Amino acid sequence: MAKLAFPISEYIQRQRNFYSKLPKDTLLIIPANPSAIRSNDVHYPYRANSYQMYLSGWNSEGAVLTAQYIDGNWMTSLFIQPKDVTMEIWEGRRIGTERAVSEWPIDEAYSLNDLIPKLEGFLEDCKQVHLIQNLSSEVDNLINRTLTISTTDPSSILDEMRVYKSNLEINMMKQSAELASNAHVLAMQASYSGINEFELQAVIEGYFISKGSQWSYPSIVGGGDNGTILHYTQNNCLIEDGDLVLVDAGCEIEGYASDITRTWPVNGKFTEPQKEIYDLVLNAQEATIAACQIGNSWESMHEAASDVIARGLIDLGILNCSFEEAIGKNRDGEFRKFFMHGAGHFLGLDVHDVGGGRGTDPGPELQAGMVLTVEPGLYFGSWRSDVTFPQKYSKIAVRIEDDILITKTGPVVLTKNCPKTLEEIENIVGN
Ligand code: GLY
Ligand code: MN
Ligand code: MN
Repeated sequence: MAKLAFPISEYIQRQRNFYSKLPKDTLLIIPANPSAIRSNDVHYPYRANSYQMYLSGWNSEGAVLTAQYIDGNWMTSLFIQPKDVTMEIWEGRRIGTERAVSEWPIDEAYSLNDLIPKLEGFLEDCKQVHLIQNLSSEVDNLINRTLTISTTDPSSILDEMRVYKSNLEINMMKQSAELASNAHVLAMQASYSGINEFELQAVIEGYFISKGSQWSYPSIVGGGDNGTILHYTQNNCLIEDGDLVLVDAGCEIEGYASDITRTWPVNGKFTEPQKEIYDLVLNAQEATIAACQIGNSWESMHEAASDVIARGLIDLGILNCSFEEAIGKNRDGEFRKFFMHGAGHFLGLDVHDVGGGRGTDPGPELQAGMVLTVEPGLYFGSWRSDVTFPQKYSKIAVRIEDDILITKTGPVVLTKNCPKTLEEIENIVGN
């Protein structure tokens, strides 16, 4: 049965902080994530909305969270699936409004059946709405019908809060990182030449499930050329003797994600060209982790990674150009042909967590309490018709990804127990 991830005081603190940034004449509405159909009567497993989980710890399907300022106090309400024996026989027990009010950090709980009439009443007492749109068409339609009301998206206020993890959140993320590290170790040990990608996926995800966890994103297990596909998830090919496998897999505990990538030779021995690329990516990763210091810009991480990668690609004879051309004016030079993604992203209740730094967003300065990934990679697909590189690097894909907590005393690698030096990996694969 569902329960709160943290003591109630954690959520009350978050609510107080958030509400202090809202105008008092507003109605806050955060609907649930809609459920998604996989095929006909079969749904995808439900994942609650991260903002709702953050503010109330509620992670059962379909709820709508509201808050409004009444008689000098902010009142938090949840509209939830009502107790209903027939529905519970088919779909599982429901918490119900009484238990919701006594055990969750909310003041009132109502049946979802009463949502629209209740919201109509709430709207009479407010002048504006803070609403996360495009989650509930029922709520969106109601607000759109109320023409006199202005609507603001509250996510940016919540994002600024979510980017700083509390001690309880950090502790949860450490557990998530530890579990995912163990899973990678088990997969390294289970590896052999000719293993199928799905066997490694099964080792990892079976371990997550055996610990009451689950993946935080579909696992990527790419052998040889498949490792050069950034979002590869088919995971159904044999991995040949001499090939590397790139495994990007993380889990979720109480919604908090880990995100780890490791790359290893399935036969337990790196070839010389594989070692060269691995070493280069590892050097770039370590330089990037070293740049994860309070006060550094988000961009400084990408600069640290790309400096090492660009220099290394020239030294290995993969790029035949100057360092300036390799880097490019806007860090978009020749190195981008082989390192196409960002150096990292924030991590938390979402694997690509809120807080900025994605795409063209410049991201914030790094501060204590932020958790992010550092994940440089290099990819030399034999199938690439758009680039040339020495044949010996063909089919090599290496990404190394760790989860990093920014602290006053420097970066703390939450995934430090996941082996990553050449020597550590060669000692563990197949053993
Ligand atoms: N696993 C998704 C990512 O590394 O960003
Ligand atoms: Mn990542
Ligand atoms: Mn990843």
